[in-house]
Amino acid sequence: MEKTSLELRFVEWATFFKSASSFREKLMKGLSFEFEEQEFYLIPIGKSDINDSKLITTLATWRERNQETFPTRFSVTEMGTFNWLEKAVVDNENRILFKIIGDCLKFIGHIGLLYKSIEDEIELDNVLRGDDEFPGLMSKALQTLEEWVEQELSTNRITLRVLASNTRAISFYLKNEYEEIKRVSMEWNGAETEKQLVPGKRGDDFIISMDKDLLNTPAKQKVLTAGPSISSKEVCYVDTAVRFEWNHKNSDSLIHFERKFAEYLGVEYAMATSSCTGALHLALNAVGLGPGDEVLVPDITWVATASAVMYTGATPIFVDVDPKDWTMDVDDLEKKITPKTKGIIPVHLYGFPAKLDEICQIAEKYGLVVIEDAAPAIGAEVGNNKVGTFGGQMAGIWLAR
Ligand SMILES: Cc1ncc(COP(=O)(O)O)c(C=O)c1O
Repeated sequence: MEKTSLELRFVEWATFFKSASSFREKLMKGLSFEFEEQEFYLIPIGKSDINDSKLITTLATWRERNQETFPTRFSVTEMGTFNWLEKAVVDNENRILFKIIGDCLKFIGHIGLLYKSIEDEIELDNVLRGDDEFPGLMSKALQTLEEWVEQELSTNRITLRVLASNTRAISFYLKNEYEEIKRVSMEWNGAETEKQLVPGKRGDDFIISMDKDLLNTPAKQKVLTAGPSISSKEVCYVDTAVRFEWNHKNSDSLIHFERKFAEYLGVEYAMATSSCTGALHLALNAVGLGPGDEVLVPDITWVATASAVMYTGATPIFVDVDPKDWTMDVDDLEKKITPKTKGIIPVHLYGFPAKLDEICQIAEKYGLVVIEDAAPAIGAEVGNNKVGTFGGQMAGIWLAR
């Protein structure tokens, strides 16, 4: 079966996290948060942790101590914990587990995520506090993970399963705005020392499913705008480029980025520049615009759209915007065309695409070049095409900020 986009993103991140080999790399790949003026880290567990016997011993001790929270009861061994860590966590591309680490590298607990392919959803997984210090810390760790899920996995929903008898966990999740969606009756099965909960009418316990809509919680009144998405991936790429990619390797990341970017947009070529201002300037120069020419730009944008036109000696002419989305008003656009007009720079503002179909038609009618400024709208689409791929006459400009 073809992987869903959520699964692809999850697996890519799981692979990225688990490949960290040194502590430095893990720290950089992980997430961090502040709690009571101290820094804490969510450090991904990966291949290099399998042989960490101290970690295995700690995990086994914690599991033994928290038996009542698990739907299985058997004596926990270090061998069993090792197998679980290797097979169920590290070798499982659908699972990510983070150690929660405090200052002085104190290991406080763990928290993780599971991608569930049948439901195509993200489940909170293996949430365990091993150390009783820092009350309130687990909520902060959970919030950090939720923000990451929303930002990097582009999903607004997290689910979880918890035993009804685990009242402490349930009140923790309720406090963190998770809501019960269903409960399934369970029965204990097997000998006292190796019991397992299985679905059954007896109701010895219940598995409660809960979920949270990350966008629609009372605590979050969101203003819909898009900021830059700088995750630990970008931090790692920059670190690698600065430390290793010079001399004969100087363009490795650049070439990789350009290729991936072109692939993402669905175009043949992408060329990175140091800024979007530079990209606009280059494109205007490439089509030969200069003194005496007029270029139509929207009157709400960043100053660079117009200043790039000025750099060539051409004159920016301001076109009114549509009050609904602040992109170029097509009626006013046509009114501003004169015999000197040579080009149009529609700006896709704050994730809203400009009205490209109409703009391209007008451009064709008057023989004008279209250069798209997609600086604040990478990934926005018109029909099935990403913005930045329409400026057919010469070039689409799309440089991330
Ligand atoms: C619409 C638009 N165009 C161009 C730019 C210029 O980008 P850069 O700062 O990369 O030169 C920006 C930057 O904010 C922008 O918002």
